[in-house]
Amino acid sequence: MNTTTDCSIPPTRRDHHRHLYQRLWQGDPDADRHADALLDRLLADTAPGDSDPPEDPAALEAWMATGHRRVGEAYRDYLDQRARGGPRRFFQCRAQALYFLRAIAPTKLVDGAWLHGLTRHWQDSRLRPLLRIYLEELGDGQPDRNHVLLYQRLLARLGCETLHGLDDDCYLQGALQLALGRRADRYLPEILGFNLGYEQLPLHLLITAHELAELNIDPHYFTLHITIDNADVGHARQACRGVLDLLPEGDDRLAFYRRVRRGYALNGTGPGPRALLRRFDLNRELERVLRRKAEVGRLLHPDHCRLAGRRLNDWLADLAEGHGADDFLLALQRHGWVQRGRPATQSRFWNLLEGEQASMFGVFDGYERQLLHDWIVDDAAFAAPRRFRRAPRPRHASTPTPTDAECRRLEERLTGLGAREQMALLGEMMAPRRHFTPAGLFATRRYARTLAGL
Ligand SMILES: [Fe+2]
Repeated sequence: MNTTTDCSIPPTRRDHHRHLYQRLWQGDPDADRHADALLDRLLADTAPGDSDPPEDPAALEAWMATGHRRVGEAYRDYLDQRARGGPRRFFQCRAQALYFLRAIAPTKLVDGAWLHGLTRHWQDSRLRPLLRIYLEELGDGQPDRNHVLLYQRLLARLGCETLHGLDDDCYLQGALQLALGRRADRYLPEILGFNLGYEQLPLHLLITAHELAELNIDPHYFTLHITIDNADVGHARQACRGVLDLLPEGDDRLAFYRRVRRGYALNGTGPGPRALLRRFDLNRELERVLRRKAEVGRLLHPDHCRLAGRRLNDWLADLAEGHGADDFLLALQRHGWVQRGRPATQSRFWNLLEGEQASMFGVFDGYERQLLHDWIVDDAAFAAPRRFRRAPRPRHASTPTPTDAECRRLEERLTGLGAREQMALLGEMMAPRRHFTPAGLFATRRYARTLAGL
């Protein structure tokens, strides 16, 4: 994943959160200090919301059941609207769906991270429901169930692995989750509250899964969360139990629960799904991509490559400077390179990009090609959605075994350690940046097995 860069780059206002995310992900020497600063700032800014947990913890389970019923009813209304011919509510076109999947990627690529710090407390039975949630986020060490790997593979299949051009605040929610995961001892009540919010089934998850399938995009990552976040026995109920089991008796009870509620409010950190969807502007995204391509391609075309009588390198030099995109796109249309409002394959420019024989094959990634495609067809009729049908999944031959070199090294390190040290080492290998590697998956399986045997 291209989410990491050199940590020695000083943060600027423009990439402050991305930089912080990377520092926390990599665990640089100052990471704890940065985590505390971020969490204290966000907690100071939290404000009560409409769907906050009840003031009385005894009402938590009833509150959760009501919330789930409301979401179920709202989803039923949505499906009725769609059945009556109503438009998609989230994604106007496939490019917008890919825009959304990229924008939430920094969060999804650290899925579960807020619970990592609890792995140190494997002996505390009250934390068992939360550790179970963490292990399930990690697929219990099975690569085809590890949520981060599933999201990485989804992005890879769509050709959307490079995450350049994301707004800086897309990294904020992920940074928050990494910070909570680092500082479990200091922010345990807030983690319980955050987890309580994150594991409730939201309406946007249901709509996202439904509309991705319509656009022929594998919704598995999202449908998986619909089943595991259920209010009956799933993560939502485990999250509730986690809070109730850890609430202290006596004078501290109220103060602890107040912190749980503030932690819950952290779920609203960063742009939510609707805000992200509103940001999507196909023309602006297309201009951004053209500018990026022009920065690389401005000197690469021979002089005889011309558009509207002008050298292509001159067009690209303008685009790289950030102007001339409208004229360039207009020239493509006027001079027969693009037939807007028709299937993309009828455009010469499109045929330069698509197909292995195409001379510009590989220049645009999956998201960038989809932007161009949707701009060319300019009409949903030509982008008629096909309902996603899941192809049978190949069994991953790469399922790691202890014979893999990395795993073998870990086994050697574990040999001779006492139970406490072993669990500490396994917990380290289950950190957000490691748990999806062969050794991380191996460590997760071993940790889960030990925990189940206690
Ligand atoms: Fe997850």
